[in-house]
Amino acid sequence: KTHDNVLGVIESLFVDAVETAFPGLQERLNFRVEVSRTKPPKFGDYQCTSSMAIFTALKGTPNAPGSPRDVANAIVAAMPTNPVLEKLSVAGPGFINAFLTAPFVMSRLELLLRDGVKASPVKKMRVVIDFSSPNTAKDMHVGHLRSTIIGESMSRILEFQGHDVRRINHVGDWGTQFGMLITHLTDAFPTWKEEMPDITDLTQLYKNAKQRFDEDEAFHKRSKDGVVKLQAGDPESLEAWKILCEVSRKEYQKVYDRLDVRLEEMGESFYNPIIPRVIEMVEAQGITEDSDGAKVVFTKKYKQPFMLIKSDGSYLYDTTDIAALWYRLHEIKADWIIIYTDYTQQDHFGLLFEVGEMAKILDPTKHRVNHIGFGTVNDESGKRFKTRSGETVRLVDLLDESRARMKATLLERIAAGQTSLPEAEIDRAAELIGYGAVKYFDLMRSPQSNYVFNYDKMLSTNGNTAVYLMFAYARLSSIVRKSGVDVEALATKQSGVLQIVDPNEAALAVELLQFQDVLVFINKELATNWLCTYLYALSEKVQVFVTQCRVLGSPEQNSRLLLCQATLKIMHTCFTLLGITPLDQI
Ligand code: ARG
Repeated sequence: KTHDNVLGVIESLFVDAVETAFPGLQERLNFRVEVSRTKPPKFGDYQCTSSMAIFTALKGTPNAPGSPRDVANAIVAAMPTNPVLEKLSVAGPGFINAFLTAPFVMSRLELLLRDGVKASPVKKMRVVIDFSSPNTAKDMHVGHLRSTIIGESMSRILEFQGHDVRRINHVGDWGTQFGMLITHLTDAFPTWKEEMPDITDLTQLYKNAKQRFDEDEAFHKRSKDGVVKLQAGDPESLEAWKILCEVSRKEYQKVYDRLDVRLEEMGESFYNPIIPRVIEMVEAQGITEDSDGAKVVFTKKYKQPFMLIKSDGSYLYDTTDIAALWYRLHEIKADWIIIYTDYTQQDHFGLLFEVGEMAKILDPTKHRVNHIGFGTVNDESGKRFKTRSGETVRLVDLLDESRARMKATLLERIAAGQTSLPEAEIDRAAELIGYGAVKYFDLMRSPQSNYVFNYDKMLSTNGNTAVYLMFAYARLSSIVRKSGVDVEALATKQSGVLQIVDPNEAALAVELLQFQDVLVFINKELATNWLCTYLYALSEKVQVFVTQCRVLGSPEQNSRLLLCQATLKIMHTCFTLLGITPLDQI
């Protein structure tokens, strides 16, 4: 009667059976029993695949089993009668297949209906997730979309499991670009000190500044001096810098609000005061070298050095990141850090973590650190996704477009009488589905892979899309709604109403039980896309169930309503963890 992940429960049953059949073997060989889902499902729900490995390990020893099948039979014989597994059988070269018992499946579903969706218990960790992290005064583009969406989803997934998550926005607010930005700002808005300049288009300001920087020598020189002044703490420069950050922050916040993303800003500038101290710590380990006046660290794994201080005495991206690493592990006291950026920064973070260890800032026996370098978003020809005029696609435009297209689809459905969605709810529905589609299209593949951006595929009502999944959810909701039964009251009563009889019910039920396993897997592999894979697989089972098993007005109505309700709960949780808000009616 717990929310332990099912795969873990089954694994431990097999571990015990292997121990009984072959005492001491697992410890001696430091061997892990392998359990997975059975394919095809008619042979079972779960499968243990360890017989072959055990056979190989025992070959040539006294009383060695004659074949992997003998091993499998010995394990089956050693498995005591238990409330979880039944009908064990040996297949092929020695696979052990087993079915979940109906009482086990039903008790887990009853638990789900009573307590709501729960993750299996974990050891609580403090996790810093560094994501989104755009650069001040530059537009957030489709590249930052990935970091923002995946980081948000990972935060939700870990928070759901009870971890203490700090969502950190490592805004690029302290780079050399500020020299030209500040110089241009003070030129273009001479009254900037009296009234807040009305910079509606920060990107334009950036472009203009850049153009002058490249073309106007005097401006170039003033900009370079500007950086030095800012970094030296000149009050006027700081004032102008603050204005630029504030304008930029407001723009980003609009995107975060639209995407329902929550972040805590702790940008590059935040670490400035602690940099000298952290540099001292690194130097104290005797690992720094002088390279043409620059202070660097060479590591074993990388050719290029980690740049601690530039030859002109200034700090760099590397410097800020080692300071941030120290701060996160020793001030925030994070047990785990996950950083999302594009894949080009792979080496930077590889180096950072190695230097962190050399400097005794990072202790791999205590701290877990991950950098996820996500792939690029491309167009049909495989090039980076750009606007028609060749500019990077602004995130806000992309969201507008998706929402507008979804609205058109919904209007068509209304005109064709395919939905009873009230007119007044169209805009909200178009927004939730439109944004959900953008997010899902990104989240559904492994974070590291590239993908081709395509509105038509993204917004298709068929196949593995948010639109399809949200429709499936709404359809199931409407069945429950139309029944007129107070399903929530039925769910908490627990009077043995739920009975899994039909094989299509069973297939759906077993799928529902996988939820905790998916989370465990994501913790290990950071593959947020598995939640999408799961949600889609679940929806396919739902589809078969609703076409094969009549719910409303059938003798099994109430039991089936409970199965629908359990499914809605799991689906709702999956959507929420993906950052998508499902609708009860579309
Ligand atoms: N601002 C950087 C970019 O736009 C990402 C920063 C990621 N985080 C970090 N700690 N370096 O690529």
